[in-house]
Amino acid sequence: MKVLTIIGSAKNGNTSEIIRCFKEELKKLGEYEFEDLYLEDFKIDFCTGCHNCIFIGEDKCPHYNDVKAIEDKILVSDILILATPGYMFSVTGIMKNFLDHVAYNCHRPKYFSKKIFYISSCTKWQEKGVFIPMQTWGSAAGFSFIGKMYIDMLPLPFTEKEKMKRRKRIKKSAVSFDKSAMTIVDIKPDFGGVVIFHSFRTICKIAPKIMKADYEYFKKIKAYDKDTKWYVNAKISPIKHYLANFIEKRIEKAINKMIDKNEIDNCKGSFKNKL
Ligand SMILES: Cc1cc2nc3c(=O)[nH]c(=O)nc-3n(C[C@H](O)[C@H](O)[C@H](O)COP(=O)(O)O)c2cc1C
Repeated sequence: MKVLTIIGSAKNGNTSEIIRCFKEELKKLGEYEFEDLYLEDFKIDFCTGCHNCIFIGEDKCPHYNDVKAIEDKILVSDILILATPGYMFSVTGIMKNFLDHVAYNCHRPKYFSKKIFYISSCTKWQEKGVFIPMQTWGSAAGFSFIGKMYIDMLPLPFTEKEKMKRRKRIKKSAVSFDKSAMTIVDIKPDFGGVVIFHSFRTICKIAPKIMKADYEYFKKIKAYDKDTKWYVNAKISPIKHYLANFIEKRIEKAINKMIDKNEIDNCKGSFKNKL
């Protein structure tokens, strides 16, 4: 089983230590092949907000080569671990920059066959803020969630008792990870995930000339066919489907009211409204 860990902090930090311990425990449990990828080695420039990835295609991103190098590694792995310390009650800047560059996957998800796990070196007060950006991306990009672990690591020396407590928690998480890694999971999107599908298919139908890449994707997966419920075959209850369809109609109406139909055909890429 190939496990790729994408790390948003320095190589000698607490996050790296947690990952080292976690991998040590996993090696005792099963056959794992690990690769660690430090985002700092890629030095990806900040996202410029051009929207090329969403509108035209990810290959039109000015930083495409760096992003592709990372995504190619995700594509050949079975499980992705996103790991970051908590900085200012969120992910680190370098992790956020990475998530911005791969955000287009939330419009055109492609990671349905892969599982995802999240690790953070953070306090329990930060946990929510740290996991939200990563988990939002992971679920919208198509991954199956198999768990998360945060370990509170102060940048101060711990007693042996405190270290032992954390080793125990890491061991417990590794056992749970190993179980989920071996299990075949059904694709079962939550309601938010179903609504995202309905929202994006409608938005790009309203503006197909602008959202070219998204529109092509939705046509390719037959998203506008009557029987299509989601990006791929998935377990979606009739009530979720019905409600998401209802919300889609409301969104369609609201967006049609919001946008200038005369302007839309002249629009080339990201549009800046003058107020
Ligand atoms: C710039 C910066 C911001 C941080 N922000 C917070 C914070 O908001 N709350 C908190 O509890 N810890 C905060 N921390 C502490 C780190 O989350 C903690 O030391 C973590 O273990 C560092 O992991 P690392 O060594 O892998 O970078 C911050 C640390 C840094 C360097």
